[in-house]
Amino acid sequence: MTKIKFHYGDDVPLEMHKVRIVQKLNLLPIEERAKAMDEAGYNTFLLQNRDVFMDMLTDSGVNAMSDNQQAAMMNADDSYAGSATFTRLESKLEELFGTEYFLPTHQGRASENIISQAYVKKDTIIPMNYHFTTSKAHITLNGGKIEEIYIDEALHLTSDHPFKGNMDIDKLKNLIDKHGADKISYVRLEAGTNLIGGQPHSVENIREAKKVCDEHGLMLVYDASLLADNLHLIKQREAACADMSIREITREITDQCDIIYFSARKLGSARGGGISTKHKDVYMKLREYITLYEGFLTYGGMSVREMEALTVGLEETMDEDVISQGPNFIKHMTKQFQEKNVPVITPPGGLGCHLNAMDFVDHLSQEEYPAGALAAAIYIISGVRGMERGTMSEARQEDGTETLSHMELVRLAMPRRVFTLSQTTYAVDRIAWLYENRELIGGLEFEEEPDVLRFFFGRLKATSDWPEKLVAKFREDFGDSL
Ligand code: F0G
Repeated sequence: MTKIKFHYGDDVPLEMHKVRIVQKLNLLPIEERAKAMDEAGYNTFLLQNRDVFMDMLTDSGVNAMSDNQQAAMMNADDSYAGSATFTRLESKLEELFGTEYFLPTHQGRASENIISQAYVKKDTIIPMNYHFTTSKAHITLNGGKIEEIYIDEALHLTSDHPFKGNMDIDKLKNLIDKHGADKISYVRLEAGTNLIGGQPHSVENIREAKKVCDEHGLMLVYDASLLADNLHLIKQREAACADMSIREITREITDQCDIIYFSARKLGSARGGGISTKHKDVYMKLREYITLYEGFLTYGGMSVREMEALTVGLEETMDEDVISQGPNFIKHMTKQFQEKNVPVITPPGGLGCHLNAMDFVDHLSQEEYPAGALAAAIYIISGVRGMERGTMSEARQEDGTETLSHMELVRLAMPRRVFTLSQTTYAVDRIAWLYENRELIGGLEFEEEPDVLRFFFGRLKATSDWPEKLVAKFREDFGDSL
């Protein structure tokens, strides 16, 4: 939290930046929004951005850049090989993470493809605190099987556990005892655990995980895409780290890792990704894949301009004012939802504010995609685009039965430094109205269902005329308001 106290009224998160470039937004009338949602097959991924008021789909590649990031982009050295831009980025990562070697990739999942191809052995297990969609897809594609060893509190939607993203260390030990270390390709730990609501892990937890890995000769692979939020939340919540600088906490974490990979669309507020390691043998093994799938070793599919922006963005990640903005807005939004009894994930984490669709629309079964239906309804009544994170984001089993998700969430992502407090207040107001009228929300069914990552392109339809009823009720309560 910013250290600023207000004299009158409650403290609100105070922006430690000012807006210097803006983009005009459109807010369509609700009838047009309902039409746009229908045309997009009730899948918020398929909406056109011109029809969206607040784009809270993701924090990926849409964070606001700083003036210094933009300035650095003009300085890019775009030689194919031996670019000075690459050297600057590599040196920054060595300075912050203590990793001598860096391999650039075009985005996070490209790093996952390469690590999985190189290290996932067929019929082995990859234990992790929780999966991410693309991480699981690449591991499975290479014949591995993920095993989630989260702590019990991870799936408690409302909790005051500060580190719901922690790995259960006893479960890790038991898994290794049961299967043997040779049946495990590596252990994966994800910062700011995306799919359970942007929940952090602690420094103590990664230290313990590394100790177990070392005892069994296993590599610890760290997904640092959501590291910035996790760093802020560690400083807020882990007593032993309260007096440490963000830079020091970063090193405490990265010193435990054999491989660190990330999406630079999130970490560093740019675009691209990469893999960092202190081990020469790992670097030598992975670099062949970079040249095959990504590009030459000094750009790896990234634009050199984005590399310059990333170098500056990584340095800015060490600034508490910069990395606290997202989690502080999320905390504020979560509090506003709680005051209006809207079911929301607690404690607030990073990435975004997460609504609990299982409770919000508790009259819908998981086979009717409650989180997908809620995301569609939210867009219709507000122009806010969130993302389904529930059963629709899972893949069907081989026999065609649904894989019911542990949680049915609608993520309202908070791209960093993008929205103002009045915009977030608007979103809360509309969604609180929707909660009061939640019985109007009906289910969805697939019309067109892709086999792989179906949530991206799948088209659905409403199982009744509930969207029309929702529009009518909105008009009744809001008159001719947009
Ligand atoms: N790991 C995590 C934890 C992520 O959140 C993401 C992306 C990736 C890996 C893949 O990175 O998109 O650059 O290929 N998450 C985005 C999201 C897509 O919206 O949550 P990428």
